[in-house]
Amino acid sequence: MPTLYVTTREGETLELQGQPGLSVMEIIRDGGVDELLALCGGCCSCATCHVHIDPAFADKVAPMGEDENDLLDSSDDRNDTSRLSCQIPFTDDLDGLKVTIAKED
Ligand code: FES
Repeated sequence: MPTLYVTTREGETLELQGQPGLSVMEIIRDGGVDELLALCGGCCSCATCHVHIDPAFADKVAPMGEDENDLLDSSDDRNDTSRLSCQIPFTDDLDGLKVTIAKED
């Protein structure tokens, strides 16, 4: 299975094996990282699954939708690497993807 690297707010990096077809949010949550709240369960309506992705993977992840873009505008920690992890389907192509959990808003 492809590997996802997740860096927590404390700076700890976890290596998770991700089932392709799940979202990056689901893999992080199933990996026991409870600081990623993902309150809406992946419906793209809460922005509590905000992560920063490694720019090297910017062209490989699914493009950002309008709703995701609007929601991210509500975050003070938004920058060019911001994504909502529930909106990124994990695939074999994303093997080695590194994400960092965004600051809490
Ligand atoms: S889990 Fe709510 S927007 Fe991603």
